[in-house]
Amino acid sequence: MAFRTMEWIEAGHCLRLLDQRFLPGTVQYLDLTTPEAVAGAIRDMTVRGAPAIGVAAGFGMAQAALLAEAAGPPLIPALEAADRVLRASRPTAVNLFWALDRMAALWRAGAGGARLLEEAQVMESEDIAVNEAIAAHALSILPQEVTFFHHCNTGALATVGVGTALGIIRRAHDSGRKVFAYLDETRPRLQGAKLSSFELMEYGVPHAIVVDGASAHIMRRHKVDMAVVGCDRVAANGDTANKIGTYNLALAAQDNGVPFYVACPTSTIDLSTASGDGIEIEERDAEEVLRIGDAVIAPDGAPAFNPAFDVTPNRLIAGLITEFGILRPPFDVNIRALFAERGLRKGR
Ligand code: MRU
Repeated sequence: MAFRTMEWIEAGHCLRLLDQRFLPGTVQYLDLTTPEAVAGAIRDMTVRGAPAIGVAAGFGMAQAALLAEAAGPPLIPALEAADRVLRASRPTAVNLFWALDRMAALWRAGAGGARLLEEAQVMESEDIAVNEAIAAHALSILPQEVTFFHHCNTGALATVGVGTALGIIRRAHDSGRKVFAYLDETRPRLQGAKLSSFELMEYGVPHAIVVDGASAHIMRRHKVDMAVVGCDRVAANGDTANKIGTYNLALAAQDNGVPFYVACPTSTIDLSTASGDGIEIEERDAEEVLRIGDAVIAPDGAPAFNPAFDVTPNRLIAGLITEFGILRPPFDVNIRALFAERGLRKGR
């Protein structure tokens, strides 16, 4: 792979992030040395995608501890401040809180910088393995020739591994299957057109970018075998928050008999949120809607509304593809059974 989403640089306790705001035109990296800077990079979407946000926050907490140790005691107020600023960076992706809770369990028990750094690196390796396991489970249900529909970016840029939904598409291609993918452009920030296409070009996976409104038509007139998306938070009943437009895609899939799957690391499942109604939906700046890049596309002073995520009701989902296998409905029962069987933590 010619790019790396994030990398820990030992010297200077630095988290190096690929700045996704400038892709695909410019591949440039940002070196961040404080948890405040990491929180800022999550907020402004230098780094984005639920799993990548979680791991970046983990490194931010390691930085906080290493910096506080260098400055001298007390450690805890600095760690509390870092935890607060990172928690406030984006509200919807539960991986952020999952990672911060995991780090907090350690620092509240007295762990220092070296131990927190080790934990962030464990989360990084786990994410790589989880991505591969999700892809392997998906491959078990894929035909030899398969056309996907995909939304947003869920690949290497959104994780530290091969990706979740886009990882499935990539690994299906690597497996020798004849693969084609329709990529929703994903307004307003165009993660599909800018990032997912960037990745699939890199891997040589045949695909076409389509406008977000085209999915129902394409499913009606062209062969589509499966819609597969990622997730930012899955409630205990399987309702799934993901990038705005995912719900529309799921409705289009249902009306056209196309199975709709969610690639879902268990770190994205939040058992403490009973249903999708309880998931906070981030609202971002209206400017994202009113512009495409530097070009203003609306009349001067025009109002806009910019919810960044939506919730797909569980009834529209054929399966949650986790690292432990594919969960089928009823999701409330099967998610709880999986968590009990694997002894998993319960989310926020
Ligand atoms: O706003 P973003 O770009 O962070 O939104 C990303 C998504 O919605 C992804 O589908 C989700 O985080 C899963 S990434 C494996």
